[in-house]
Amino acid sequence: MNVLEGKRIVLGVTGSIACYKALELARQLTVAGALVDVIMTEEATRFVTPLAFQSLTHRPVYSDMWATLESAAAHIQLGRQAQALLIAPATAHTIAALAAGLADTLILTTALATTAPILIAPAMETHMWQHPATQRNVAQLRAWGMYVLEPEEGLLASGQSGRGRLPGIDRLEGELRALLGRVYGRMRGRRVVVTAGGTHEPIDPVRFIGNRASGQMGYALAAAARDEGAQVTLIAGPVALEAPVGVEVLRVETAQQMHAALQRVIAEADLLLMNAAVADYRPAERLEHKRKKSAQGWTLELEPTTDILQSLAAERRPLKVGFAAETQDLLSAARDKLERKGLDLIVANDALSSIGQPEIELTLIEAGGVARVLPRQPKSAAAQQLIDYLLERWPARLGSAPARPSQDGPSQEEAYPDE
Ligand code: CTP
Repeated sequence: MNVLEGKRIVLGVTGSIACYKALELARQLTVAGALVDVIMTEEATRFVTPLAFQSLTHRPVYSDMWATLESAAAHIQLGRQAQALLIAPATAHTIAALAAGLADTLILTTALATTAPILIAPAMETHMWQHPATQRNVAQLRAWGMYVLEPEEGLLASGQSGRGRLPGIDRLEGELRALLGRVYGRMRGRRVVVTAGGTHEPIDPVRFIGNRASGQMGYALAAAARDEGAQVTLIAGPVALEAPVGVEVLRVETAQQMHAALQRVIAEADLLLMNAAVADYRPAERLEHKRKKSAQGWTLELEPTTDILQSLAAERRPLKVGFAAETQDLLSAARDKLERKGLDLIVANDALSSIGQPEIELTLIEAGGVARVLPRQPKSAAAQQLIDYLLERWPARLGSAPARPSQDGPSQEEAYPDE
């Protein structure tokens, strides 16, 4: 499930030049399926027009508190209906007004009246951000449970460089998704470990053996589990992807490092999504210096790496999902790995049509055979559907857990009620 689908998000836009970025944010959230109600301060309307937002969200845009909804409760109605209030950009003035509990704009009355989570993305000049008044106000909002992001460093509208920039649109969407997950997610309190990308096995200081895995699917899985409120650790091989917001990322290079990183976090995990394309072999010897060219050929001796999943075969915890990217005999090869590695589920896909590609078709296989086929779709959607399947199949093991099990752990019957 896409956590933004059908969610009512109120986007408060205040008077900063960064308003132009809020337009793109409103568009992106709308495209992701959210119902975005924009409220602008009068100052914000001097930078961009309500019409611009309305054209992107296809919904009314509110600015004047006295000229909006007809009912007497107009000034609090949007806040009551909202599932999240995002104020981006938030000026020093609006932050101060929020901290003082003022109520003379529609954004302020909405913030006072809502019980939904509030995410604030400040944008201002560095000195305004650093001013003790602003810092005190931000601390007050945080103490009340609002999520106030740190602005980013970079070039500001004044031409100066410093902290004060509105974070990028993708980061804002990620922060909103993580917040929605923490509040409404179906895996709150669960710990998920995801491995992603390939590994690099060094030959000498400049060469390695690697594979074509891009990490896209593993990163999408980490984001999908985060969107459901899980605490996610992503163990990533060398990939060129930005870390998903709200996910702990452990970067590794070799199969051995991936194994070591996994061993550090696996004991606490409820779910392992072993998506990495781990090297099966590594050079038997790592040369200290770059190997020089010679007229002779070069035979490289390889030795097997540890099969990380197989080393966990005897463990019943966590729930283990393996991945099999094959170029032939997809189903039989996947079934064989399911059994050999003692997995709860294996996810098979055709390597040729999916490695490095934005879309993928997945076949979910359990001991009883093919459990479900997820048709070819963007990897982010495939990841969400896989998480949906896991939650449907193992609700007691993966569904939201209010408290961690006691030190001794639950009894076997309590531990696996889904089976
Ligand atoms: N895997 C692992 N450790 C390895 C190799 C693979 O944990 N050293 C995991 C992968 O992350 C994946 C599953 O095992 O979840 C299947 O990986 P795959 O490479 O398809 O299987 P192999 O056992 O390596 O078999 P083959 O290469 O012969 O297909």
